[in-house]
Amino acid sequence: MEKKVKIVIDGREIEAQEGQTLLEVALKEGISIPYFCYHPKLKIIGACRMCIVYNEKTGRLITSCNTRVEDGMIISTQHQLVKNNQRYLLQAFMTRHPLDCPICDKAGECDLQNYGALFGPQRQIVPVSALEKERHYIDWESDFLEYYTNRCVVCYRCTRVCDDVNGARALYVEERGFHTNIVPTVRPIDTSSCEMCGLCVHVCPVGAIISKPFKYWTRSWLLKREITVCSVCPVGCQVQVEYGIGDWRSKEKVYRTKPTDDLEICAKTFFGYDALNRDRLLKPHRYGKEESIGNVINHLAYMLKSKGEETAILLSSYLSNEVLGVLKEVATRVGAYITSPLTVDFYAFLEGYGDYTPLHLEDIKGADHYVLVGDDITSSAPVLSYYIKGKVYKYGRTYKDAKLKPINLEGLDHLPGGGIIIVNTTGMACEEARNLGAKIKRISEEKGYRVLILHRDANYLGVYGIFGRDMLSDLGSIMEEVRERRIKNLLVFGEDLPDYYQEEDIQEIFRKLENLVVFSPFADGLARWASIAVPMNLYGEAQGNFHTLKGLRSSKRFLPWSFDERSFYEELLKSLPQEFKEVKVLRGKNPTLRRHLHIYRSNWITDRSENLTKLYEKNAKAVSFAS
Ligand code: SF4
Ligand code: SF4
Ligand code: SF4
Ligand code: FES
Repeated sequence: MEKKVKIVIDGREIEAQEGQTLLEVALKEGISIPYFCYHPKLKIIGACRMCIVYNEKTGRLITSCNTRVEDGMIISTQHQLVKNNQRYLLQAFMTRHPLDCPICDKAGECDLQNYGALFGPQRQIVPVSALEKERHYIDWESDFLEYYTNRCVVCYRCTRVCDDVNGARALYVEERGFHTNIVPTVRPIDTSSCEMCGLCVHVCPVGAIISKPFKYWTRSWLLKREITVCSVCPVGCQVQVEYGIGDWRSKEKVYRTKPTDDLEICAKTFFGYDALNRDRLLKPHRYGKEESIGNVINHLAYMLKSKGEETAILLSSYLSNEVLGVLKEVATRVGAYITSPLTVDFYAFLEGYGDYTPLHLEDIKGADHYVLVGDDITSSAPVLSYYIKGKVYKYGRTYKDAKLKPINLEGLDHLPGGGIIIVNTTGMACEEARNLGAKIKRISEEKGYRVLILHRDANYLGVYGIFGRDMLSDLGSIMEEVRERRIKNLLVFGEDLPDYYQEEDIQEIFRKLENLVVFSPFADGLARWASIAVPMNLYGEAQGNFHTLKGLRSSKRFLPWSFDERSFYEELLKSLPQEFKEVKVLRGKNPTLRRHLHIYRSNWITDRSENLTKLYEKNAKAVSFAS
């Protein structure tokens, strides 16, 4: 049982748990102590000295972030010595720091700026110019990250987050004292082991590391922010979405996405947020013209009632459980076929493997070792790789798009016992997936491995939970039926099809249809060919639950342009017959085409981000140059 201790801070008696630090206890109690290097998710290093407090019993100043509470401690955060030293330290930080808040992106959310105001001083005692001459400009040669050495307070949060949380080890500390700089291990940093997760930008307490795509576009106090679950991949990170009207030229848009104190985010969301602002389909359309929601529902209801059994629904695993539930009900009320791209790889794997009870991140944390099978998991679930780095049974070559390259399959039979096998089924060919499923099942039973079956789609576990396998037809079989004109109406959700069929093929298939209804967040994709196009929500827009690798997570709807999916589907259901019909299932055919996934461009959401495309191209060029 955890032992309790009693301490006094600023005259208040507080009960704390043995082992906690003074700073943790004080912050929990709402007592304000300034700090730079401390972060709840990072190792304590006691580098900045800003968190000093006065120990009344010993008559000494101590740093609160690395002092554990002891029974009977009497602490003051208001002692004159504390105040003097806080001022002295801030002077020292300001000496190195230019007072360029008016042009610094961190203004308004900068710890140094805030502490200057709260604990003084707000001026430089030593003129910066004398030392400025001594320091040189540090160019990270990046299109995405920018480092201002003279703003740096040398707290080492960036190096620690990069070493210990992301595991990319892309930064190190150069020189000492006033000459200290944070530098990338390889330049340009964009093509190094850096994964562009943006965590160093986020944890930097000042504006020393900033995001170039965000630079100068807006000010932090102009933005609204909400926390929601990211639905770009199945990890389900909590992210902060910042949006609003930041500059006078643009409409309301998303300006930035950030992690929470969990420090879980990847490049797909930290830099890929610009996809939310691109070519959006925000209103329903019919034959290319905006149409009222009521009319669209009437058309859909008529189509489903008159030719429900000649209709197929192509699910997207980027939909919330609630929308998936509605689609299941639609299919059962009109007898429509249902298919999913997951039938090509994930479900094919399960045919060999058998029933799967999903494992979540909590279940696999802290295992001795992990074995990776299938495509690089950093392309499909980047933050999952943060949990397992350093413990993977076999690393492959470490060039960027294959950082956690899977073990050679021949090696599977020679594995030691225990551990976790993570199988990334994304992009596996049907037959290969089936055989591999059977093999992994055998090996996991023989050697005592637990198995996490992964797919890149955000809510693949939601689809699995709601539809199982029995209700779903194979994607290829449905497309064949369309080609043969036996299926006349197709409701396509999401933009997955181009991963499986060439564009000419898709167009040829679509031409055979009487009605093509596309539900998509984007106007530039399949919606171009649709008779009816209806918006689909992304993160920050969708209200509902997602079955992520962290379990069931709720996503919030707050972006002002989001589509009111709930009312739309409620109205649609009201217009359909109440009785239930059998959902027929077609099996036996599936496409084989699937492009290679990259950590920056892995699905139709990330593909639409200009930032990620630029990163991808820069890396592709660097790899081809090196080889
Ligand atoms: S962006 Fe992420 S991986 Fe790159 S240097 Fe910063 S913390 Fe490290
Ligand atoms: S760049 Fe920022 S996070 Fe890194 S040491 Fe400097 S102030 Fe700290
Ligand atoms: S790891 Fe996945 S859920 Fe987390 S931020 Fe990246 S894309 Fe979003
Ligand atoms: S926060 Fe305690 S020394 Fe930096």
